Amino acid sequence: MSSLPLHPPVLSPKYQPFMKPFYITTAIDYTNAPPHIGHAYEKVLADVMARFQRLQGRQVYFLTGVDQHGQKVQKSADAAGLSPQAFVDGITAHFTSLWDKLNVRYDGWAATTDPRHKRVVQAMLQKLHDCGQLYKKSYSGHYSVRQEQFLTDKERGPDGNFGEEWGEVVEIEEENWYFKLSDHVEWLQNYIRSHPDFITPAFRTADVLNALDSSGGQDLCISRPAERLSWGIPLPFDERFVNYVWFDALTNYISFAGYLADECGNEGLPHFADLWPADAEIIGKDILVPAHAIYWMTMLHALGFTDEQMPRLIVHGWWNIKGAKMSKSLGNVVDPNSLADKLTPDGLRYYLMRDIATGYDSDFNDERILMSYNKELAGGLGNLLNRSINMAQKYRSGLLVPGDYDDSENSALRQTVADALPVYSESMNTWAIHDGIAAAWKIVTHANAYVDSTKPFSLAKDPSQAARLDSVLYHLAEAWVHLSVLLDPIIPTAMATARAQLGWEMPSGFVLNDLKWGMLQSGHQLNTPIPLFPRLETSAE
Ligand code: MSP
Repeated sequence: MSSLPLHPPVLSPKYQPFMKPFYITTAIDYTNAPPHIGHAYEKVLADVMARFQRLQGRQVYFLTGVDQHGQKVQKSADAAGLSPQAFVDGITAHFTSLWDKLNVRYDGWAATTDPRHKRVVQAMLQKLHDCGQLYKKSYSGHYSVRQEQFLTDKERGPDGNFGEEWGEVVEIEEENWYFKLSDHVEWLQNYIRSHPDFITPAFRTADVLNALDSSGGQDLCISRPAERLSWGIPLPFDERFVNYVWFDALTNYISFAGYLADECGNEGLPHFADLWPADAEIIGKDILVPAHAIYWMTMLHALGFTDEQMPRLIVHGWWNIKGAKMSKSLGNVVDPNSLADKLTPDGLRYYLMRDIATGYDSDFNDERILMSYNKELAGGLGNLLNRSINMAQKYRSGLLVPGDYDDSENSALRQTVADALPVYSESMNTWAIHDGIAAAWKIVTHANAYVDSTKPFSLAKDPSQAARLDSVLYHLAEAWVHLSVLLDPIIPTAMATARAQLGWEMPSGFVLNDLKWGMLQSGHQLNTPIPLFPRLETSAE
């Protein structure tokens, strides 16, 4: 897959040209198992924000990808009788095909087995080694041969022994390389205290500071002996070791943004100086502490990144399943593929954005997702479009002529549309996507009530009401044009279909600020209505 920008930005002439592109990334997903609904949520969240920023006229670079190294992959590949690379290639294909299906439109693809990434990780490790930030130390402890990991007291059972699940446990002594993370803790504490917008939502900041106050600021082991873990990036200064987990994975945010590209001979990547720092690194709450807020930040600081060059973290909550954590062993893992097939990709995108508040957990529920699809997408939004265009076709052959007629019902609907715009923008800009959807939905609810109260079917029977009917049909179409823009980042395919039915396209260079009442000219011709979200059968029906 190309890592060049796939979607050249359309910059509005009104947009400040000096502003750097909005650089948005997500966590890179482990490739030991196919994607589940939590992975889908995070990518859709990033995609919605990327589309919203483009809609505001901002140039965007959206990077996502896969975390392909590590012990788990090595083990799963062995079990499947495949080479680790063949194994991760197979799982990676599940991720890329899901992102295609869900219309997750990224610009760069970060796969950690990409040779360009490996070169940057090695160059970076070499730099840290050269400036004395890495050292070798011997560690002795209890080691589970079956699980291939060191055990701590946390793993002991109530009787003080390691349980049977660990198999044979031996005491071994092992040398490894460490990063002087502790050198940077004081800087990090000060940085966090003086940069309240570092972590969104802000309440998560306390977790980081608490961890640093307890034992979270200790030096970090960054290697595993190659005889124990071969599926990783060798340390350039000591090939008997491979890099272990986080240094490799976290580096993707800079390696694929063009960091050290010249030095490493890397091509086809963005210009680092144009892109960095990341405006949003979207991650789940489980990988904030210690990985992103402590390891990543201290790594960057050790490499010489300044306070102005630090990324911003957006931390989302988790989808649980009927109150329980989603896990393979509980057998409650939700497959986003089959849901997208059933509800349409936009149906799934909508639910994943509407039923969670960014930063907080939510509960995934099969019945709720169907109910919300039928009630809100089929019944509310889709039905509004269908009946608005149908009536205009039936009574006026699809021709809109607003005329001069006006009354308080019309002006109230226009006011609802006008009021929705700033609330929508403010919500979306602050990651409250569900509030952005709710702001747009005020238009849906009001417009549906407006059809019920103005009764176009009765107006059509009375020739003296012709001007009023014209104005009603125009107001409905115009309200829908607004919806087709506001909901575009969330349900892009359905909104493109709606615009085709409305016979209206966003003009080239169109930005959110251009949206105002009167997008449709007198004499505008509507097209044929086709249901946007056909109702789905539920077991109760
Ligand atoms: N590979 C690491 C991240 C490295 S980033 C430099 C990893 N991978 S993961 O596959 O386990 O998780 C990927 C993302 O999915 C994480 O941000 C994680 O929080 C998110 N989610 C995993 N399960 C989730 C839910 N049930 N709900 C929402 N998001 C969840 O961690």
